[in-house]
Amino acid sequence: MPISAIIDCDPGHDDVMAILYAAQTLDLCAITTTFGNASLSATTKNACQTIEFAGLTQVVIAAGSARPLVRLPQYASNVHGETGLDGPKLLPPQVVPHSGHAVDVLLAISHKVPDLYLLPIGPLTNIACALLKDPTLQQRIKGICMMGGSLTFGNITQFAEFNIYCDPEAAHVVFTSGIPIKMIGLNVTHQVLALPKYRTAIRKIGTVTSTHVADMLDFYSERESLLTGLAGGSMHDPLAVAALIAPDILSFEPMHVAIELSGTLTTGMTVCDGRHLGVDLQAVKPRTRGEIPNAEVAVAVKATQFWDQFLDTLSAYP
Ligand code: BDR
Ligand code: CA
Repeated sequence: MPISAIIDCDPGHDDVMAILYAAQTLDLCAITTTFGNASLSATTKNACQTIEFAGLTQVVIAAGSARPLVRLPQYASNVHGETGLDGPKLLPPQVVPHSGHAVDVLLAISHKVPDLYLLPIGPLTNIACALLKDPTLQQRIKGICMMGGSLTFGNITQFAEFNIYCDPEAAHVVFTSGIPIKMIGLNVTHQVLALPKYRTAIRKIGTVTSTHVADMLDFYSERESLLTGLAGGSMHDPLAVAALIAPDILSFEPMHVAIELSGTLTTGMTVCDGRHLGVDLQAVKPRTRGEIPNAEVAVAVKATQFWDQFLDTLSAYP
């Protein structure tokens, strides 16, 4: 039985890669959208275009939060362009999102589907709203695999990663929820790059989907490379999918993660406590080395294995 999951996203080039990867490897119960890389209307339109060109129109899309819990929205047009998905020439979508709000769709699915996972790959506003609206949700979620944060440096600021920085209060709600969390942050996602050889391999597949994906990755890689100096766009969001379906691609360490809500320089930082690593915890009583872990934090990744699997998955699309 495939694992059941809801993707909560802000497409975004790498979000599209995550949707395509997830739809072939998981029981994808819904795609919920949030503001983030672009406005909510733009990210929802991008999700609709994606399921249309990939022949995934059976997947429900529900639009969610247009702004963070407390702060004002900010977008990543410097990386993803004004539409949130600049680059490929996509047709205007014919599919229409679900009439319900993402939070209500997510809560309804959580009552019907056992062992449900959440895969947030944008700001955590929808997930936080769902937990605030119905705190019993925590008991029905098997786990959260999320792209966000970093064990090292940030991207939007020196310490903060974009998804967490967009809505740190929402991230705080999620990280204090008690749900088992896997955090896939920049320290690993910056190691998995859409290098020219992979983009060539994708274009060679020769399908409509692979052509759109190659066009997307060309645009995104050019933008990301200008900003980061890396040799291609980082495959941030699909690595959250990998964490769920391919346990050998990423390695994790348990840590306590706190979200910086009021730093002068550090707002939105994922403050990861690794003081216990390498310590025999049984021998340290009372516990003196670090806070009790609330997350598994990704610390290493096998890029080649990821690409082998991702390319295989893309080949299955029309
Ligand atoms: C994250 O921010 C967005 O721009 C990407 O889609 C990814 O989810 C990386 O910091
Ligand atoms: Ca994203």
